[in-house]
Amino acid sequence: MITQKSVQEILDVARIEEVVGDFIALKRRGANLLGLCPFHNEKTPSFNVSPVRGTFKCFGCGKGGNAVNFLMEHESLSYPEALRWIGKRYKIAIEETEISKEFLEEKRTADGLYAVNEYALKYYQTILFETDAGKSIGLSYFKQRGFNEETVRKFGLGFAPETKDVFTQNAIKAQYLQETLHKVGLTSQYGRDFFRNRVIFPVHGLTGRPIAFGGRILTKEPNAPKYINSPETDIYVKSKSLYGIYFARKAMQQLDECLLVEGYTDVISLHQAGIENVVASSGTSLTVEQIRLIKRFTQNIKIIYDGDGAGIKAALRGLDMVLEEDMNVKIALFPNGEDPDSYLQKVGTAAFNDFIQKNAKDFIFFKTDLLLQEAGNDPVKKTKLIKDIVTSVAKIGDSIKRGLYLKQCAALMQVDESVLIGETAKLIKKSLEAKTQAGNRAAPPSAPEEVAQPSDSQPIAKNIPLEKQPKIPVEPSPSSPKIADISVSGDGISERYFAEVLIRWGHRLYDMASNTTVAAYIIANIQDVLNDFDDKLYQKVVDETVAALQKGQLLNPAYFTNHLDPQLQKLALDVLTLHPDHEYASWEAHGVELHTQKIHEENFVLETPQAILRFKLKKIHKICKQNLSLMEKYYKAGDWVNGMKHDKIHMRLEALRNTMAKQLGIIILK
Ligand code: CTP
Ligand code: MN
Repeated sequence: MITQKSVQEILDVARIEEVVGDFIALKRRGANLLGLCPFHNEKTPSFNVSPVRGTFKCFGCGKGGNAVNFLMEHESLSYPEALRWIGKRYKIAIEETEISKEFLEEKRTADGLYAVNEYALKYYQTILFETDAGKSIGLSYFKQRGFNEETVRKFGLGFAPETKDVFTQNAIKAQYLQETLHKVGLTSQYGRDFFRNRVIFPVHGLTGRPIAFGGRILTKEPNAPKYINSPETDIYVKSKSLYGIYFARKAMQQLDECLLVEGYTDVISLHQAGIENVVASSGTSLTVEQIRLIKRFTQNIKIIYDGDGAGIKAALRGLDMVLEEDMNVKIALFPNGEDPDSYLQKVGTAAFNDFIQKNAKDFIFFKTDLLLQEAGNDPVKKTKLIKDIVTSVAKIGDSIKRGLYLKQCAALMQVDESVLIGETAKLIKKSLEAKTQAGNRAAPPSAPEEVAQPSDSQPIAKNIPLEKQPKIPVEPSPSSPKIADISVSGDGISERYFAEVLIRWGHRLYDMASNTTVAAYIIANIQDVLNDFDDKLYQKVVDETVAALQKGQLLNPAYFTNHLDPQLQKLALDVLTLHPDHEYASWEAHGVELHTQKIHEENFVLETPQAILRFKLKKIHKICKQNLSLMEKYYKAGDWVNGMKHDKIHMRLEALRNTMAKQLGIIILK
């Protein structure tokens, strides 16, 4: 058992932002850090880390706690395992009382699985470097593949000799349970070594611990598979793992790009050449979970595959989901059956980088080209091709991106752009209708706004006596907000929403029919509380938008990102970089006139009226509250005259609030 003193020391030393930062990319936002929640799927970050409190909290799924809780949840560790994890990370010597039942129990759990894998990694590595067979078969193979010793050590490569059960017997002597050895797949159910006469590639998890192994055969045995791999366990789920992720994550984040290759050897080879932002899907086609894993570090994927391989077709099939995840995907294929490893060895790092730079094609265009080649002049095939491409494009959440794709695809396929736009619109409408039916309309806007501290998110109605709680009609329409929606978060939050929307989308069209811009729509709808922003910065965004509207001008994101007020500029940069569509700014720099694009952004239709509703209700609610406390003050002081005056005001305000809720409910129904 870990002593109380050690537990305390561990809790003291753990920095939540560092522990969480080992697993997901966090961006600083004021005093806190923000990232995409690893516990549920989301597109806008609502996972909040507070270094001051030492806590994390997801405003999307509600998970929260301290560093130990995070590790327990994320890494499926027990409490003592999580403590030991922190101990290791911060190099604290942990005091433990005698080996207990609990310790033995742990040998069976996740920590035990890691431990036995760590043992195996060292074992195979020692065999590789220190035995004759290891050196003459394994090490010489790696040398011949061009791996130097540093690389071999870094990736923990090893060699499993041709023995019946020597590894297993050694492990048992070293106190590891045969049951655990079997569970992780190192030992067969009959007690035999699983990996025999193969070079070993350990698969490292996000924190660098071995979660599985791959063993490659070197001899030419006709019926033996080229690779054998560990089975799935609590710590290794194949569809959620990527080979090389531990070694790649820093570079992925820094370069804001992930290279995806097929094999172990490709990853290692590229690494040695200084290209470190590379991971492998290990021969399977990409899964949603793998995409989301990559997305924790970057939204840009470059797939670099063997041109002739069957892999590319399989990969293409699953790729539409990448678009749904709001990722940018490019593909580069190597010529003449070369894979990244062989091509790199042939031409060197500079020419290799140059090649992928020049040949990487956007996934949609890549797919269009590929299908075009297949279709030739066959009109039936071509129709199918158009449907296929349009289906892909419709998955893209960002309307501007969609528009740009359609334009280029139309040119590639030599069809009229308007045909593609029409087809895409149909599909989007369908999927929107499906979503609406599924009740998504009533979902509160998901949130860049959710950076609030937990304390800010207390219901604002808390101090009001029960009988005086605002009686906003709960069910006048399916899309009307419930009380809980209105009180989930502080005012600053919805103020920020408007500032954010105005910065990002103010210049775009909200309603095509009436030619209303987003800015005009929002300002018109919050007219009565325009000067009531509590936050000066957000008020400034509103004021400048109003001033511009009065002059008949529109402010684009670049106006805000180039703003002379450093605070406002920073806000704009934060807002735009938090989301994938920050590329708007660069597109505009290339002369794309965004506000002339008449593409309906469905998010506005669903989110903005709701946000307006929530915002106004909150403002009224706040005035109500202020009035109520005045009333109480007068009553307490025995000033009945003023007390009753404010009592009457209260009743009127409350009525107003209720009417407004109803009214706005009608707007929402529009
Ligand atoms: N793979 C596998 N089982 C196989 C074949 C392949 O698990 N029977 C996985 C491995 O993760 C491998 C990847 O698919 O790394 C790509 O396969 P391949 O290109 O054949 O292997 P490489 O590792 O590139 O090996 P080499 O370059 O020596 O052919
Ligand atoms: Mn290969």
